[in-house]
Amino acid sequence: MNILILGSGGREHALAWKIAASPLTDRLYCAPGNAGIAREAECVALDLADHAAVIAFCRRAGVDFVVVGPEAPLCAGIVDDLEAAGIGAFGPSKAAARLEGSKGFTKDLCRANGMPTATYERFRATAPAKAYIRARGAPIVVKADGLAAGKGVVVAQSLAEAETAVDMMFGGELGDAGIEVVIEEFLDGEEASFFALCDGETAIPLTTAQDHKRAYDGDKGPNTGGMGAYSPAPNIDAAMSARIMAEIIAPTLRAMKAMGAPYKGVLYAGLMITREGPKLIEYNARFGDPETQVLMLRLMSDLVPALLASRDGMLKNFDLRWYAEPALTVVMAAKGYPGTYERGTVIKGLDDAAAVKGVEIFHAGTKAEGGKIVANGGRVLNVSAIGRTVREAQARAYEAISRIRWPQGFYRHDIGWRAVEREAK
Ligand code: AMP
Ligand code: GLY
Repeated sequence: MNILILGSGGREHALAWKIAASPLTDRLYCAPGNAGIAREAECVALDLADHAAVIAFCRRAGVDFVVVGPEAPLCAGIVDDLEAAGIGAFGPSKAAARLEGSKGFTKDLCRANGMPTATYERFRATAPAKAYIRARGAPIVVKADGLAAGKGVVVAQSLAEAETAVDMMFGGELGDAGIEVVIEEFLDGEEASFFALCDGETAIPLTTAQDHKRAYDGDKGPNTGGMGAYSPAPNIDAAMSARIMAEIIAPTLRAMKAMGAPYKGVLYAGLMITREGPKLIEYNARFGDPETQVLMLRLMSDLVPALLASRDGMLKNFDLRWYAEPALTVVMAAKGYPGTYERGTVIKGLDDAAAVKGVEIFHAGTKAEGGKIVANGGRVLNVSAIGRTVREAQARAYEAISRIRWPQGFYRHDIGWRAVEREAK
């Protein structure tokens, strides 16, 4: 079959790498793609916000199945529009993507179905929000309701910080995403990401990961989309996984179906593993980036039948196999990210780096220019590796990085530190 992937990041490169390896794939396209994806797929310059243009391309190229990477087109209803045009698509409908698109929606769903999450209230005005903050005390967490590209959450250590966050969000700094604010209890514990594949009715657990959100070593500096990740998450064993499925994922699927918005696609649960058990921090309606890069390295089975089964409601008797070996990815970003950074700087040594055992390099913001690979975004490369231990995967990834010549780039030197420390014990 002919498949089109939508997106242009490291996540989409990892998906393209895996989908291209499937015997079910005839032609593989990616829109808009990047220089790494161009090795696996034919890249097409399409504006993902223009659903009619995406549909017209699918008709022209005979695309049978579309795999949507990022959240923005999902929340804008691209799956609904493709399906209405008779083109199969992987991912949730617009109504189901509200699990990511509206934090208030997800919190209410948790409350109505007894799912474990931080205690919260929703607000549309400053005075009651601040009164709630003063009544609850700090630390406390202030969140914009809508999609805010990672800037919508303030974990406030003091009342003043929380009140400033409320003023910022209601002041319009995040646009429409901040029209409503959720204020919630601070959860103490260790985070983990849990991925489940859903077909509206059934969910099967994929695997788990942990990521590093802060820009600099020692988990310091500003929040980013993610500077590195590894899989599996060492704090989720089989028993914890079963609890997460039973207490969080399964009730979510039941509730979404009951409200007429069955959830299909990847459900990515951001969790806090607390002393009382797992609590849902947030849902994403898609694969994680850079978590997908490590997930795909560990996936032994063909991905394409799994994506088709999700879309077709056929996951009930489905089984996916994973390599037990851990995988780790280190993000190389342009200096200045997540603030302002330069584009167009030349990256060398990639083939030499990819020759390190167990290593795959997934491209994020790159493009090919005059036979060279140049940086074309904030997060630029995902240097990924599998190994017998996290420590070995980590050593391989950093060995590969040492072969990459890109003076305008930077990366964290301590990705996986928590897992490596655990292994050492
Ligand atoms: P989110 O955008 O919802 O993933 O939030 C970003 C980060 O804020 C999370 O990964 C957590 O590290 C932190 N965070 C969010 N909500 C809470 C909470 N209720 N308690 C503690 N930390 C939180
Ligand atoms: N790595 C975090 C995310 O994909 O949202």
